[in-house]
Amino acid sequence: MKKKILLMGRSGSGKTSMRSLVFSSYRPSDTRRLGSTLDVEHSHVRFLGNLSLNLWDCGGQQAYMDSYLESQRHQVFSSVGVLIYVFDLVGGDDPDGSEEWDKDVRYYKDCLAALKVHSPTAKVFCLLHKMDLVDATRRKSVYAARVNELRRKSEDIAISPFATSIWDETLYRAWSRIIHTLIPQVGVLEHHLAHFADVNSAAEVVVFERSTFLVISRTSRIGDASGQSERTTSNLPASPNLDLEGFPEDHNAGGKDTRRLNPERFEKISELVKSLKASCSKLQAGFQALEVQTENFSAIFDVLTPNTYIMVVVSDPRVELAAVRLNILQAKDHFE
Ligand code: GTP
Repeated sequence: MKKKILLMGRSGSGKTSMRSLVFSSYRPSDTRRLGSTLDVEHSHVRFLGNLSLNLWDCGGQQAYMDSYLESQRHQVFSSVGVLIYVFDLVGGDDPDGSEEWDKDVRYYKDCLAALKVHSPTAKVFCLLHKMDLVDATRRKSVYAARVNELRRKSEDIAISPFATSIWDETLYRAWSRIIHTLIPQVGVLEHHLAHFADVNSAAEVVVFERSTFLVISRTSRIGDASGQSERTTSNLPASPNLDLEGFPEDHNAGGKDTRRLNPERFEKISELVKSLKASCSKLQAGFQALEVQTENFSAIFDVLTPNTYIMVVVSDPRVELAAVRLNILQAKDHFE
C-alpha cells in the first residue's frame, strides 16, 4: 500500500528539519546546516512491511509554491493521502507574524482548494511549528487563536492540528498520530496488543516502528490522575476544547499528585531511544535491546518484528522479566 504525503509550508518553516529528524538520524542541532529545498524532494520510506510512504518535501520558496499551484498543480495535488502543512509560528521579520502568517494562510487555502479537486479524501494535518520559540506563558493562547483561525479558513475540510518543535517530543507525537491514521487494520493490532498485555500482566505495552521509533500502537492499564485503573488504546484523545486539540497536555496539572503520568511519555521515549541509537552508532555499536529496572517498575524494549520494537512495562514484582522476554519471542510470528 502506497501513500503519498505532501509536506508543505513556507520556506524556512522547518519541513526538511522534521523530515530529517523523523526519517533520518539527524539531531535537532544538525538541522541548522540544512539549505533550502529546491523544488520537490521525494523520499520513499518503507514503513511496516506493506506500507510505503512516498514523501514529497515541497520547497517553500515563493516561486516553487506558485508553480505547485499553477503548472505542477495536477502532478503535486493528485493521489495525495495526507497533506501536512507546516506553519512557522515566529518566522519572518515581524515576530508576531501577522503579515507572514496571513500570506501563509492564503497559500494554505490555495493548497486546500487544489486538494479538494485532485484528492478530495486526503487528510489534512496543520503543524504549528517552532513552538519552542514562543514565550512559554503565551503558547496556549497563541496556539488556540491560530487553530481557531485555521479551522474557520479550512471551511468544510476537517483538520487535525498539532503544536510541534524539533526540540522536544511534540514532533514525535504529531508524526506518530499522523502515521497511525495511515496504518491499515490498526484496530486488529491494538486488539492483539491488549491481549498480550493481559497475558503478561503488563502495565503498558507499546509498539514502535523500528527505524523512526514512532509510536504505532499502545495499550495501558495504569491508573489515571485519580488513581483509578483504566484501559486505554492509542486512538486520539478527544480534547474538550477544540482549539486546544493537538496542544500537549499539561502533566503537572495534577499539582503534587505524583501518580499522574506524563501523557506524552511514549513520544518522549521515541525521542530518547532515537538519540541513544544515534550515540550507539557513533561508537559503531548496534542498538538491539534495552532493559530498565527501578523500584517501581521494570521495562523491556526489544525487537518484535523486522519493522517494529515492543516495549513492555511491568509494575507487578511477581512477574519474571525472563518470562516476558520469552513471551515476546513467542509473539513475534503472531505480530508479523
Ligand atoms: P525550505 O526548504 O526553504 O522550504 O525550508 P524548510 O521548511 O525545509 O526549513 P528547514 O527545515 O530548512 O528549517 C529552517 C530552519 O528552521 C533551520 O535552521 C532549522 O534548524 C530551524 N527549525 C526547524 N524546526 C525548528 C523548531 O522546531 N524550532 C526552532 N527553534 N527552529 C527550527
